[in-house]
Amino acid sequence: MQAEKLVVIGQGYVGLPLAVRGVEAGFDVVGIDLDTSRIKRLSAGESFIEDISSTRLAAALATGRYLPTTDYGDARDFDVCVISVPTPLRDGAPDLSYVEQAGIALAPHIRPGCTVILESTTYPGTTEELLCPLLMQGSGLRSPEDFHVGYSPERIDPGNSIWRLENTPKVVSGIDAMALAKVDAFYRRIVDRTVTVDSTRVAELTKLIENTYRQVNIALVNELTVLAHQLDVNVWQAIDAAATKPFGFMAFRPGPGVGGHCLPIDPCYLSWQVKRTLNRQFRFVELASDINHSMPQHVANRIMAGLNQRGRSMKDAQLLLLGLAYKKNTGDMRDSPAVDVAAELAKLGARIRAVEPYAELGHIPPGVTLVNLTEKEVRTADAVVVVTDHDTLDYDLVTDSASYVFDTRNRCTGPNVERL
Ligand SMILES: NC(=O)c1ccc[n+]([C@@H]2O[C@H](COP(=O)([O-])OP(=O)(O)OC[C@H]3O[C@@H](n4cnc5c(N)ncnc54)[C@H](O)[C@@H]3O)[C@@H](O)[C@H]2O)c1
Repeated sequence: MQAEKLVVIGQGYVGLPLAVRGVEAGFDVVGIDLDTSRIKRLSAGESFIEDISSTRLAAALATGRYLPTTDYGDARDFDVCVISVPTPLRDGAPDLSYVEQAGIALAPHIRPGCTVILESTTYPGTTEELLCPLLMQGSGLRSPEDFHVGYSPERIDPGNSIWRLENTPKVVSGIDAMALAKVDAFYRRIVDRTVTVDSTRVAELTKLIENTYRQVNIALVNELTVLAHQLDVNVWQAIDAAATKPFGFMAFRPGPGVGGHCLPIDPCYLSWQVKRTLNRQFRFVELASDINHSMPQHVANRIMAGLNQRGRSMKDAQLLLLGLAYKKNTGDMRDSPAVDVAAELAKLGARIRAVEPYAELGHIPPGVTLVNLTEKEVRTADAVVVVTDHDTLDYDLVTDSASYVFDTRNRCTGPNVERL
């Protein structure tokens, strides 16, 4: 029997794991991406995403059921298509142009009975009001009568080896009951557990609640950290102690800011829609965003004060930053607060070297020299700053050899260590 055909549009952090999982679940998979260099690397069996090893990718290619391509023509006769393209902000407003382009290019390949699912993060209403009309217009068919449309938010957590795509419950929705049944049946082949909700709007909002909750709680501990420092209380220990309460408390940890594609951006989708539709402010989101954005400058000021206490000035100080990615154990530098910390320090006249074991060379911030973590580098630095606490870094070497460590992640201990 012919395998069902799955098309995944966008072969990035979300689309590639889904495509590989689709092959493993028995689908014929076409992975479409407009980035020719990504498609070349994927066709050669070279993965650029930590969660998918090149061995796993090679195994998918070896089945003959995974085709990475730039050509939308390869989508013909598909049964299910998942769209996982970027949804960034442009001048503070959602930029859905990638979703629109993908919908327009896919529409001519839609045929009766097929299912199209949006996974890109977006504001409630996008699937029904934006994507579905584009698909109908380009295909000449109608939904829900002729083909099925749904939304399922992605919960992928890059670098998390415990909660992976297949064992994280997946929220699923459709624009009518039949679409929901189709979307649910598809994901039951991909993940262990699905959670159905009544409408695509609810599913779209679910994703935004998850990320807004994180953004707000991180802002809460970040503000608390700034205040606790002035009150001379160890906030890290207080959070750990509070986390021993078995109910009613979930621990969030402070840091130099928030980064990546989701946290700084997704809550803005919600506040943008609230403003546009209700002409009201989503005050929690705006306050949280403000606090988190102020953290890089706070970190730079704290380091300047620390150097001052040691009789050093920030001007011409040699600083060694550990970790540039927004998230530990990954190389993802999208909207990383480390880039803002480096920029703030450079503005104050510091010379910056950085250790980032996962970095792709093209992504290093301007003015930052990439170096290996060696005793000599640590000794020469006026301050070593732990920005992203990758597990592979040797923190004993740092605390043994540094004159001054500023630790934004509570990773190091010792008389020469100052915590955020
Ligand atoms: N990365 C995460 O951890 C994460 C988690 C949950 C949700 N999301 C959401 O999933 C969506 C995708 O994010 P991502 O991290 O995979 O992005 P990504 O940048 O890693 O990948 C997106 C890919 O889509 C490709 N693309 C853009 N326009 C295209 C088009 N018209 N046709 C074909 N390919 C196209 C790009 O070349 C890129 O390779 C976003 O909406 C994001 O918010 C991401």
